[in-house]
Amino acid sequence: MALKTINPTTTKAWHKLNAHFKTIEHKHLKELFAEHTNRAHEMSISWDDFFVDYSKHRISKETLDLLIELANEVDLKDAMSKYFGGEVINQTEGREVLHTALRNPENAEVLVEGNNVMSEIFEVKHKIKDFANDIINGNIKGHTNKPFTDIVNIGIGGSDLGPAMVVDALSFYKNHLKTHFVSNVDGDHVNEVIKHLNPETTLFVIVSKTFTTQETLSNANTIRQWFLNHAPKDAVSKHFVAVSTNIEKVKAFGIDEHNIFPMWNWVGGRFSLWSAVGLSISLAVGFENFDTLLLGAHKMDTHFKTEDFDKNIPVITALLSVWYNNFFNAESEAVIPYSQYLNQFATYLQQGIMESNGKSVDRNGDAVDYQTGTIIWGEPGTNSQHAFFQLIHQGTKLIPAEFIGFSKSLHGNQDHQDKLMSNFFAQTEALMNGKSKEAVLEELNAQDLSEEKRNELAPFKVFKGNKPTTTILVDKLTPESLGKLIAMYEHKIFVQGIVWNIFSYDQFGVELGKQLANSILKELQDDNVINNHDGSTKNLIKHYKSLR
Ligand code: F6P
Repeated sequence: MALKTINPTTTKAWHKLNAHFKTIEHKHLKELFAEHTNRAHEMSISWDDFFVDYSKHRISKETLDLLIELANEVDLKDAMSKYFGGEVINQTEGREVLHTALRNPENAEVLVEGNNVMSEIFEVKHKIKDFANDIINGNIKGHTNKPFTDIVNIGIGGSDLGPAMVVDALSFYKNHLKTHFVSNVDGDHVNEVIKHLNPETTLFVIVSKTFTTQETLSNANTIRQWFLNHAPKDAVSKHFVAVSTNIEKVKAFGIDEHNIFPMWNWVGGRFSLWSAVGLSISLAVGFENFDTLLLGAHKMDTHFKTEDFDKNIPVITALLSVWYNNFFNAESEAVIPYSQYLNQFATYLQQGIMESNGKSVDRNGDAVDYQTGTIIWGEPGTNSQHAFFQLIHQGTKLIPAEFIGFSKSLHGNQDHQDKLMSNFFAQTEALMNGKSKEAVLEELNAQDLSEEKRNELAPFKVFKGNKPTTTILVDKLTPESLGKLIAMYEHKIFVQGIVWNIFSYDQFGVELGKQLANSILKELQDDNVINNHDGSTKNLIKHYKSLR
């Protein structure tokens, strides 16, 4: 059964939210705290090792009730049961959206066209486990009988960002294998990686759901060529494995059938790290840790499926985002992890969030007349405090931010951890409260300045505050908590797509550029090919050809 097609702006809740917005739009968070003393307690969710505080948002109890009414009116519950139940909710591509099945226990039942896919999933998981163990333990060796030392993941988009982010995030749990990621078709990327590699001890994992992606195939071909300059042809089977749905194309590339780790069309690229696309994760941190990552995600799936909306982390974070995006007209959202391990987290989320919800046609096929997908960006704190926080604090734009922090550090340096977390708490407090002119003047009074100078400086030092933040405080960064965190964002994306009445699981928007690049490539490589271009593009191509 198809997803319902309810235009959110026609719902009763939306109209009520519009009217309610006018009453709250200019209210300061400080007032909201004064009016509602139990706010911090009531607007927080304690679940497992997660503590989510959303009290520093420009909402009242009424806002929350109306946002939940909106979720009910667009029938989020019905959509959730279609999502988890394997209905074809990726209607434009005719596919189920079942990455959640990948982290189910073996005894679950998930039907795709009448077949329970759990046995196939576990068959592949066992293959990943055996292979990863054998590579890590040195039971499988390279063509000169040396154990592997390096792994290179060759893929792009969802076939790169997920594994790359997770391997980086779980560096603390890493084994002796060095892991590298080659994604960009920029030849300098692949050459920079291979210049450090020993072909005798390197394993290449080619990851491409379609096995037709230009970047991945170009990099794979270049690497194979480089490899063959150092090794005999029959050594390829010992050093190259692939993850794909396109078994025929993988075989045509020259990879042995037993070196193929299958995946399925019902797993979208940007949600695929839980499948064999996560092979590099298993190799880098061991299968047990990979499986624990999946367990964490499964726990978040269960929380999302079963918890009431007012205590449901993905639902609340998604609705808050709708509130700012559609009522306050906020353009972007920041995600600020206070952990250097999550250095690639925002980059990873950019694909998940913007490829999914960057749509302007609704599920009826009509142009939307309201805002959809948010722009997402971020960097770890405290580095980001010294980079772009100025704009969040004192700029003209409203940028709701999600702060993610961990109570315990992994290496156990308490002094550093306390310093890190003091910044984590200080920033959300400062963003909320700001600094009044009176406070600024009081501070300036203590300095040896003339009154004129004090008054001149004061306006520049005032912070209006009233900047909304969510604080996600997790006990510790572990494979399990990371799995929960990633799944939380996956479900947030889903909820927003349902509310906005768009299809979140296709990505036709990346096709046009690809098509044009293919035709321009022919022009770059053959002077006899001349395509029609606008004046600007024609000039740029001419200039490039004259200089290369
Ligand atoms: O960027 C578009 C996209 O289709 C992504 O959704 C996908 O993750 C990526 O390209 C890579 O595709 P493939 O795994 O088929 O090489």
